[in-house]
Amino acid sequence: MRASRIAIVTDSNVGPLYAERVKKSLEDARFQVKVITIPAGETSKSPAMLAHLWEELMSFGMTRTDAVVALGGGVVGDLAGFAAATILRGIDYVQIPTTLLAQVDSSVGGKVAVDLNAGKNLAGAFWQPRMVIMDPDVLDTLPDETFSDGMAEVIKYGCIWDAEFFDMLAQCGNRAGVMAVIENVLHICCAIKAEVVLQDEHDMGLRMILNYGHTLGHAYEKAYQYEKYTHGQGMPLAAFSCFEQDSSSSSADALSVSLLYSDHTHSGDSQSSSCIVLYRDNSGIPPADAELFCPAPALFSDCSLYVPFDRRH
Ligand SMILES: NC(=O)c1ccc[n+]([C@@H]2O[C@H](COP(=O)([O-])OP(=O)(O)OC[C@H]3O[C@@H](n4cnc5c(N)ncnc54)[C@H](O)[C@@H]3O)[C@@H](O)[C@H]2O)c1
Repeated sequence: MRASRIAIVTDSNVGPLYAERVKKSLEDARFQVKVITIPAGETSKSPAMLAHLWEELMSFGMTRTDAVVALGGGVVGDLAGFAAATILRGIDYVQIPTTLLAQVDSSVGGKVAVDLNAGKNLAGAFWQPRMVIMDPDVLDTLPDETFSDGMAEVIKYGCIWDAEFFDMLAQCGNRAGVMAVIENVLHICCAIKAEVVLQDEHDMGLRMILNYGHTLGHAYEKAYQYEKYTHGQGMPLAAFSCFEQDSSSSSADALSVSLLYSDHTHSGDSQSSSCIVLYRDNSGIPPADAELFCPAPALFSDCSLYVPFDRRH
């Protein structure tokens, strides 16, 4: 890279774990480095935080040949990527994704954005990173809930593209099972995403397949001001809601596999395992059982307001 200054953008959880190590390795390679830490969480993906980043980058003396490093999950990647796309009419950036979701999805493909009052990701750009650097070992410090969020996107690739991969995930069974084959999982997901994005970078046709469950899922996130459902929860819940409308079995299968990895979209292990069996063995979802863990029809009416504004991811 041509850069002499590098700004590492990270968040308040990831920074204390990994920023110093990345900073030192860049300094050893003779870059001037500044670490900018934002509060963790979706509410940081805002125009106000974007403006804060612009000011921080300029006060570091960045020029058009310098670069940003996004060190964190999808929130940091989307925000720092959009700052890089817009500062000085666009500078280089590198993604170092630290969540499973960011490794399999958000760091790859070049979509960067912030959320607006009207909805999620409504101000953004297509701006490809110069490089994406992934280390599966950083997933060891992820809370289970955040790991499950990433599994929602992993499972999505099985649903939309690769049935064999879907079956492999169902057999992994839990987080340890996935981590045993994590390099394979990351490789398969990124290869599928690359294949789709190469054919339709700007989301005018094929790339929309990657938005499976996202239109309504984003509405769920936004309707509760990003406090009740994470991205990785809203999406499988939405897939489930849609299943009620469309009668194909893929959404139910996706949800059943999601539940294998998730302990936060429902209450109680016995309920979840009986739901898994239920979804596995039946092509339909009996509404009474579905209500055990997911009040989908109520959610749908609360959130449908935001659907027309969705621009996905
Ligand atoms: N650009 C795209 O193509 C795309 C695709 C999918 C999702 N997204 C966006 O990604 C965002 C969700 O990303 P996310 O799920 O990574 O959320 P996130 O970035 O909020 O990270 C989740 C939590 O994990 C913490 N964390 C991150 N890495 C960690 C680590 N290694 N150890 C311990 N804690 C760690 C974070 O601090 C945060 O609290 C949403 O805003 C969504 O819209 C973008």
